Amino acid sequence: MSAPQPIHLHDYQPPAYRVTHTELKFDLSPSATRVVARLHLERHPDRQEDTLPLVLNGEHLKLLRIAIDGQELEAGEYALDAGTLTVPDVPQRFLLDTEVEIDPAANTALEGLYLSNGMFCTQCEAEGFRRITYYPDRPDVMATFSTTVIGDKSSLPVLLSNGNPVERGELPNGKHFVTWEDPFPKPCYLFALVAGDLKQVEDRFTTMSGREVTLQIWVEEENLDKTEHAMASLKRAMKWDEETYGREYDLDLFMIVAVSDFNMGAMENKGLNIFNSAAVLTHPLTATDVAFQRVEGIVAHEYFHNWSGNRVTCRDWFQLSLKEGFTVFRDQSFSADTNSAPVKRIEDVSFFRTAQFAEDDGPTAHPVRPDQYIEISNFYTLTIYEKGAEVVRMLRNLLGWETFRKGTDLYFSRFDGQAVTIEDFVGCMREVSGLDLSQFMRWYSQAGTPEIDANGHYDYAKGEYHLTLRQRTPATPDQHEKQPLHIPIRLGLVGTKSGEDLEMTLEGDSLGKDTVIHLREEEQHFVFTDIAEAPVPSLLRGFSAPVKMRFPYGREDLAFLLQHDSDGFNRWDAGQRLAMLALDDLIAAHRNGVEKVMDVRVVDAFRTLLTADIDDKAVLAEMLTLPSEAYIAEQQPVVDVDAIHAARTFVKQSLAVALRDEFMAVYRDHCVDVPYAPEPGQIAARSLKNVALSYLMSIEDEEAMALTQRQFEDGHNMTDVRTALTLLTHSSRDDLADPALKAFGEKWAHDSLVMDQWFSIQVSRPQPDVLERLKFLMEHPAFSLKNPNKVRALIGTFASQNRVNFHRIDGEGYKLLTDVVIELNRINPEIAARIITPLTRWQRFDEARQALMKDELERIRAEELSPNLYEVVEKALA
Ligand code: ARG
Ligand code: ZN
Repeated sequence: MSAPQPIHLHDYQPPAYRVTHTELKFDLSPSATRVVARLHLERHPDRQEDTLPLVLNGEHLKLLRIAIDGQELEAGEYALDAGTLTVPDVPQRFLLDTEVEIDPAANTALEGLYLSNGMFCTQCEAEGFRRITYYPDRPDVMATFSTTVIGDKSSLPVLLSNGNPVERGELPNGKHFVTWEDPFPKPCYLFALVAGDLKQVEDRFTTMSGREVTLQIWVEEENLDKTEHAMASLKRAMKWDEETYGREYDLDLFMIVAVSDFNMGAMENKGLNIFNSAAVLTHPLTATDVAFQRVEGIVAHEYFHNWSGNRVTCRDWFQLSLKEGFTVFRDQSFSADTNSAPVKRIEDVSFFRTAQFAEDDGPTAHPVRPDQYIEISNFYTLTIYEKGAEVVRMLRNLLGWETFRKGTDLYFSRFDGQAVTIEDFVGCMREVSGLDLSQFMRWYSQAGTPEIDANGHYDYAKGEYHLTLRQRTPATPDQHEKQPLHIPIRLGLVGTKSGEDLEMTLEGDSLGKDTVIHLREEEQHFVFTDIAEAPVPSLLRGFSAPVKMRFPYGREDLAFLLQHDSDGFNRWDAGQRLAMLALDDLIAAHRNGVEKVMDVRVVDAFRTLLTADIDDKAVLAEMLTLPSEAYIAEQQPVVDVDAIHAARTFVKQSLAVALRDEFMAVYRDHCVDVPYAPEPGQIAARSLKNVALSYLMSIEDEEAMALTQRQFEDGHNMTDVRTALTLLTHSSRDDLADPALKAFGEKWAHDSLVMDQWFSIQVSRPQPDVLERLKFLMEHPAFSLKNPNKVRALIGTFASQNRVNFHRIDGEGYKLLTDVVIELNRINPEIAARIITPLTRWQRFDEARQALMKDELERIRAEELSPNLYEVVEKALA
C-alpha cells in the first residue's frame, strides 16, 4: 500500500459535473442493503474543457448495475478502484443509474450507513456518503433529494430521511416504504436516513412568520422519559435564532434522533439531526448539571447549523470552520444568554486555554483554515471549532453587535443555497463595516497561539501609565515564520487607591473606563494620560483574543484584582494567576525535595471569597476551583506530572485545613432541598456546595466523609450523586468506595449512559491500582470497543485525565493506550486517531517518558494504518 497523499487548498477546482437532483431507494437489510440511485447530472458551467471524465467517489460498495440515460454500461465502459468510479465519456447532461449493495452490519467505522442497537442510521459528514452510493462526495455539489426507504414492517416500523414525507405504503413480504422529499438543495454530507423501532415525543413551534413546525424527538422506548430537556432547549434555540439573528426554520418538520453508537456529539443533517444519545438524553437521576447544559448547547448548535452550515455551506472542507467556528460562536452566545454569561465564558475559556492551547503547541497544530490534510476527519478539532469561534467573536467585537448582525444578514441572503468560503464571510463583514480586515485574515491562516509580553509602569510625576505590548507567535510544524496579528485587547486600569476603573485617555482621545486597544505591530507602546493614581492594569478582559497574556503581576496585584476588577472574567483569572504563582513555587519545592510551604496570600484570598457575600454563586464556585493539572501542565516548560499532582494536592489540602469551617458553612448553606431543575440558581448552588465538599474531602474530614456518604445515599440527583461517588472513589477509603461503586453499578446496569459515568469515575482515581482496575473493567459486559462512548469513558478519561497514572514511569499507561489504539485502527479509525492524542504530546515530558512514548508510537507506526492514524502518527514522529 502506498502512503496516503495530502490534498491542498490551492488545488481547488469546481467539480466537473454537478448533480441537480438525486433520487435514492434503499432496501434495508442488515448485511445486504440495496441502494438504487438516479443522479441528474450536468457539466459544470465553469468546467467546459473538452473531455472530462465523470469521477465519482465510492468505498466499500459492491456495484451491481450502472446505466447512462437508460443504457447499461459494459465492463470496459467504466473503471473502478478502491475509492472511485470513472466513466471516461459522458454527455453534457444525463441521468446516471446505479445499484450497489452495502453491508451496514459490518460497518464498525460508523461512517456511512451502519447499525446501532438494531437500528439503521447514517453519518455522512465529512465523507461518509461515498460508503452509501457512488457520488461526487464534496460539499460544493448541492442537489435536491428524493429518498425512498424500504424496510421490514415489524422490525423497522419507523423509516426517516430528510425533508417531508410525501408517500408511504405497504409492500409484499411484510415490508413497507416511506418516500421523503427535501426541497432544499444540499450537499450529500447532510443526507440522513434512520430506520428502527423508535418512539417519539412531539411538540410544535410557531415561527416568527406564523408557520407551524412539528418537532419530533425519536428514541428507543425506554428513553422516552429523557427527552423533555432537549425539546425545551430546541424551542428556546429556535426562538433565540429568530430574535438574535432573524433566522427562521424552513421545513414543516424538524426531527432529532438519539443513537447510542456515534463518533461525535451530533450531526446537523437537514431536517433530521442525529445525536449521540449522550448529547440529547437527560433525566435528573441519570444526568448531571453539566450534561444538561451540554445537551442544551449541542441541540442549539445543530439547530443553528440549519442556517450556518446548511442553507449556506462550505465550498470545500478547508472551509470547515466557516460553519463550525461560526456555529460554536452562536451556540456559546445562546448558552450565555440562557444561563449565567460570566460562568459560560469562564468555562469556555478555561477549557480553551487547556485543550486548544495544547493542540496549538503539539505536532498536529494547524490554522483555523488548514491548507492541507490527508484525512479530513482528523480536522474536527478544537482549533477549527473553538478557535474558529474565538475568531468570529473578535469580529463581532471589532464591528460591534449591530454591524456584525448586518454582516450576518448580508452573508445569509447573498449566499443562500451556495457553498462558499471564509473570504465570503469576512468579505460581508468588511463590506458592512468598511474596516480593513486584511491583517485580521491571518487569524485564519496562521497556526499557533500568539504570546503577548506586556509591561507597564506608572509615571507619578506626569500622571501617565505606560504600557508596552510585544507579540510573538511560536513556530508550528508547518510554519516557521509568523507574521504579527491584529489583536484586540480589552482593558481597564484599576486605581490602587480607589479600587475603581479609571478614566483612560490615549493620544488625546478619551476612551472611558473599559476600552479596546489594537495591537498590530510586533511591539507597541501606549501612553495613557491624566491617570490620577497608580493603577493595576486589567488586560485581555473577557479573553478578548485567543492569546497568552503575560504581565509581571505581583501577588498583591493579583489579590487586588481578584477583589476589585470590574470584569468578572478577569477577577476569576486573577485568582487563577495567583494560584499558579503559588503552584509554581510548590512544584519547584517538590522537585528539589524542599519542604512545601503554603502561600498565605492565597489562603487570605480564598477566605475573603468564602466569607464575602458574593451574589453570583456560580462564578464563586469557579473562583474556588484550582487550575486543573492539565492547565498547570500547559504552563510548565517540562511537564512533571508527579510534582504537579503533589503541588496541587498540597494547595487544596492546605486551603481545606486553613478554611475548614468556612468550607463547611458554604456546604451547609447551599444544600437545596427542592425538586431538581436544571436552572441557573440551582446549578450554581450545587456546584458551590460540591466544590466545598471536594476541599473537605481532600483532607478526609470525618464529618465531610459522612456528609458525602449521605449525599450519595440520598440519591437526589445525578449531579450530587456523581460528585459524592467520585469523592469517595478518589479518597483512600476503599471500604466506603467499593460498596458505593458496587451499589451504583448494579442499580444502573441497564442504563448505558450512566455506566459510562461509572467507568469514568473509576479510571480517574489517582491511586496506583487504577491500571489493573481499568483492565478489569475492559472485560465488563457493559464495555465495548465498538461503542465510542465507552471508549471515551474508560480509555479516554484514563489517558487524558488521570495524568499521574497514564504517565507512570514504567510506561504501562502508554502501553495500554497503544494496545487499544492498534485494535481501534481496525474497528473505528476516526476514534483511534482521536484517542491517541495524549501519546502524541511526548515533546512536553522528560527524556525517559519521551523515549517510552515514542517507542509506543513506533509500535503503532509498524501496523498497517488507516489514513486517519497514519496522518497523526507521522506528524507525531516527524
Ligand atoms: N457537523 C457536526 C457538528 O455539528 C460534526 C460532524 C463530525 N463528523 C465527523 N465524522 N467527524 O459539529
Ligand atoms: Zn457543528
